Parts: sequence; C-alpha cells; structure tokens
Amino acid sequence: MKITVINGTEKHGVTYRLKETFLEPFRDKADITEFYLPRDCPGFCIGCISCFSKGPESCKDAKYVLAIEKALLEADLLVFTSPAYVFHATGAMKAMLDHFGFRWMPHRPAKEMFSKRAVIITQCLGSGGSSAAKDIKDSLSWWGISYIKKCTFKLMGDIAWDKLSEKKRSSMLNSVAKTARRFAAIDYSRPAHVGLMAKCKFLACRMIQTKLGKDNPEYTDYKYWKANGWIGKDRPWKQG
Ligand SMILES: Cc1cc2nc3c(=O)[nH]c(=O)nc-3n(C[C@H](O)[C@H](O)[C@H](O)COP(=O)(O)O)c2cc1C
Repeated sequence: MKITVINGTEKHGVTYRLKETFLEPFRDKADITEFYLPRDCPGFCIGCISCFSKGPESCKDAKYVLAIEKALLEADLLVFTSPAYVFHATGAMKAMLDHFGFRWMPHRPAKEMFSKRAVIITQCLGSGGSSAAKDIKDSLSWWGISYIKKCTFKLMGDIAWDKLSEKKRSSMLNSVAKTARRFAAIDYSRPAHVGLMAKCKFLACRMIQTKLGKDNPEYTDYKYWKANGWIGKDRPWKQG
C-alpha cells in the first residue's frame, strides 16, 4: 500500500512525533512519501486562475503542485498534520491547499479521491486544534473524500516536547498509536465507503455543471465532467 503524508510544518516537534508514532505500524508494509511544508510547496497562490481555466501544469508552482498531486492520487491513505497557528492550520498548509482549489467538487474533482481514506493530526497548546483540523478537512471532503479521521490534541503545558510531562506525552502517543493500529488493520484493496454527504455534494455540483454546459458547452469544468461521464450516469466512486 501507499501512504502520502503532508506535514504542515518542517519542525521536528510535537506534531512530528505524533505523526511518526502514527506511521510506525506501516513502516514495514507501506511505501511512504512525505512532503514537508513550506519546503515542498513554497509558493503562494496568486489568483491567476490558470489552474481553473487551463490546468495545474500552467501554475507558476507547477513543479511542486504536480509532484504533490501525483503522490496524493497514488496513495491509499493520506495523512495531513499541522500544529494550530493562531487557531488555524499553518499558513504553509493553507498555501498548499489553495493550490488544489481546482480539485474541489464544483470544479474538477479527481475520481480517485472518492475511494481514499485520510487521517488529520493536529495539536495545539490550549485551543485551536479542532479548527486547524477543520481547515484541512474542508479541502479533503470537497476533494471527494468521505473517510476522514481527525486526531486532535491539546498540550495544556509547554509547547516543547521535552518539557511536557511524561504522562502527557504517553497519553498522546498511546492515543495516536491506537488510531494507527485501527488504520493498519484496514484492507486497502477495498475502496472506502462513500458517504451520503459526498454523494449529495456531487449531485448538487452535477446540476450546476449541467446548467453551465447548456450556457457554454466549451466551459472547461463542464467538458471535464462530460468526458468523465458524470453528466450522464457514471459516478466517480464507481470509477476510482
Ligand atoms: C505562530 C504560532 C501560533 C500558535 N497559535 C496557537 C493557537 O492559536 N492556539 C494554541 O493552542 N496553540 C498555538 N500555538 C502552539 C502550537 O499549536 C503547537 O502546540 C506548538 O507549536 C508545538 O507544536 P510543534 O512542536 O509541532 O511546532 C502556536 C504556535 C505558533 C508558533
């Protein structure tokens, strides 16, 4: 199986240790690709909208975006991590997610996404870990993923790993290890269940695309939906 990890920080701190513990049961059985932000996607979206109108190849940051997209599409399990920075995911994570706006369901979702599973690991000092996880989940669910598990922690102590109490460290590590064991037991040859919410979102977007296509049959997103058969009876969760 393949796992792609998007680390919202380059720091080898608390978030990194939680992620390393999550990956432990997969080390000998998975092909793991990791990206560290901002290093592996340093540019900001500047709103040129060329990814929407032409494709991600035309983005000024195509080199980074295409490498991440390839790894995301090939993976069976996606892992996203971030500390909370001012109540949200890190700016580097948000900057990376902005580059994938064209993959949101109202535009050109990738059929592969619907069958994937994802884990989001966030932590904060006292408050903001949940909203940081939500920042990431918003993109993942609009990419089409239904099976998303959020693991959020509050340090309630120091923000440096070495200064946290032994009790706090082991409770966080035990909790993330338990989730990891659950995910390691999954049979990844079977696609994830696609939830009702993802199907409803898809059908609402399909109505919009059908209308847009009537107004302009050359509209890029409509042509993509049509080519995938989604304006007709095909559905991405049956194709991915
Ligand atoms: C710029 C910045 C903003 C932060 N904002 C918050 C916050 O809003 N809420 C919170 O509880 N912790 C906040 N923290 C603490 C982090 O969420 C995190 O616990 C800490 O950076 C340790 O994680 P790390 O070792 O993975 O970097 C902030 C830290 C930084 C550097």
